[in-house]
Amino acid sequence: MGNDPGMHNSNANHARKCGNTVYKCENVDDHMEMYRKAADYINSRIDGTPGIAVVLGSGLGPLADSIEQPVEIDYRDIPGFPETTVAGHAGKLVCGILGGRRVLAMKGRFHYYEGYDISQVVFHIRVFGLMGISGLIVTNAAGGINTSFRPGDLMLITDHISFFAPSPLRGRNLDEFGPRFPDMCEAYDRSLIEYAEGIAESMGIELKKGVYAFAQGPMYETPAEIRALRALGADAVGMSTVPEVITARHCGMKVLGISCITNMAAGILDQKLDHSEVMDTARKTEKAFIRLVSEIIARWGS
Ligand code: HPA
Repeated sequence: MGNDPGMHNSNANHARKCGNTVYKCENVDDHMEMYRKAADYINSRIDGTPGIAVVLGSGLGPLADSIEQPVEIDYRDIPGFPETTVAGHAGKLVCGILGGRRVLAMKGRFHYYEGYDISQVVFHIRVFGLMGISGLIVTNAAGGINTSFRPGDLMLITDHISFFAPSPLRGRNLDEFGPRFPDMCEAYDRSLIEYAEGIAESMGIELKKGVYAFAQGPMYETPAEIRALRALGADAVGMSTVPEVITARHCGMKVLGISCITNMAAGILDQKLDHSEVMDTARKTEKAFIRLVSEIIARWGS
């Protein structure tokens, strides 16, 4: 990436900000080398290749506690990984067995609003791709835009809107991962959506379905922005997930996305938005969410 001074500088800036090793990316091969080093390091610490990676959103971290034979890897030990900065996000990978399947859970993700470059926000996804992980479950907390939703609802993500976000694929394409202009018609795998719906039904868990809109944050949206997003077709809004999903699809991974609706989005109720409300609802919904995701993993591919 040395031919792209912007990319080079921003990576160096990021490294300074996060106190990480500075990787000098003189060309595409050097850039790939960064991902390979991280993948090799993780592989050297774990047994076997996980089939599924799960990115745990706000309040869902406890899912990692159900993983058997866990190997915990701090992000700060993985070459090239940024460190998380948000309180309540632990910042480690937990690899092991869940429901009889080999999984890798990501406890704490990198948000654009924390100041990372967009390429750093999705670094882990490319590393998972290189490790040969073929399925990705992304979870998050989101504000409900669809007025039939209620705080505490779980929503299967059927599609997303990311007009207002920089693309994680911006810059020179790394052909090893995928094509320059990847298709996004089925960002969220249709058969996985049907599969998750079936599992939820068999467990008596009600699931909503809808379109997730990405907002850069960290401020919550204005009521006018929420009305605009509704007019565009969004059912929920949040500050994560979409860059990861775009990158995962570029790598050819199959994606299932689930949001916990933690609050009604700005302007729907006559009250201010408060991060503690978001965390409270995430905690209250945690048990059902964890049961559902664990069962989805346990029956994955069967
Ligand atoms: N907006 C954006 N992100 C969020 C929200 C919201 O209302 N709730 C949880 N994450």
